[in-house]
Amino acid sequence: MIRRIHHVGIVVGRLTDAYAFYRETLGLSLVKQAELPDQGVRAALLRAGDSEIELLEPTRADTGVGRFLDKRGEGLHHVCFETPEVGAEIADLQARGVPVIDAKPRPGLAGEIAFLHPKACDGVLVELATPPREPGGPVSTSPLRLKRLVIGARDPGATTAKFQSLFGFSELMINGGLRSMLAVGRGALLIVPDEEVGGTEGLVALSMVVDDFPGLRRAFERNGVKALLGTGEVTVEPESSHGVHLHISRFE
Ligand code: CO
Repeated sequence: MIRRIHHVGIVVGRLTDAYAFYRETLGLSLVKQAELPDQGVRAALLRAGDSEIELLEPTRADTGVGRFLDKRGEGLHHVCFETPEVGAEIADLQARGVPVIDAKPRPGLAGEIAFLHPKACDGVLVELATPPREPGGPVSTSPLRLKRLVIGARDPGATTAKFQSLFGFSELMINGGLRSMLAVGRGALLIVPDEEVGGTEGLVALSMVVDDFPGLRRAFERNGVKALLGTGEVTVEPESSHGVHLHISRFE
């Protein structure tokens, strides 16, 4: 059972450089930061509403994240779904013939984690995580919330059916069969034909909602962020957002 999008993983060249945009300009708060030598990464989780943003800086070239940075540059790397029992979830998926990278959960920044093989979800690298049990209490508020992830697919109908069958997501809207939207907790996955997004299969863009839109615009001006500004939304140039196609709007 999937509860929510736990986080979206973004590969960056240097964590401290990425902080200038994600923490200082956007104002996202740091949840935790750690170096994971066995995975060859320095990683940070930032609060983004119900979900988090995970920034990953490779500390070695011979890892998945190191090769990704070398080959594709900075940008969206994976999506992580939260499940209460990652061990049972990954065993069930394997029993159904789904290819995985981790047959057993291992410790990661988000808790006990396991990665599916990118082939399992049509080019989207999926991580499953069971976060450590923490004392209940109010979750800290954040100035921006993750709204949806855009996924490019050769056959959007087939990719939608795959995500529904693997994870039980429900469909929010159907638009002539060309696009579909799947609910994941309070977030969503928007699956679009790959020709709409420059032929890219897999994760292509991230949408967020901001409470203080004028404040965000001022922060962008102050910090020289390159972006296309509209009256109610802004599209950040990937060179300013570390390779991420990022849309931020003032409305849900
Ligand atoms: Co992750």
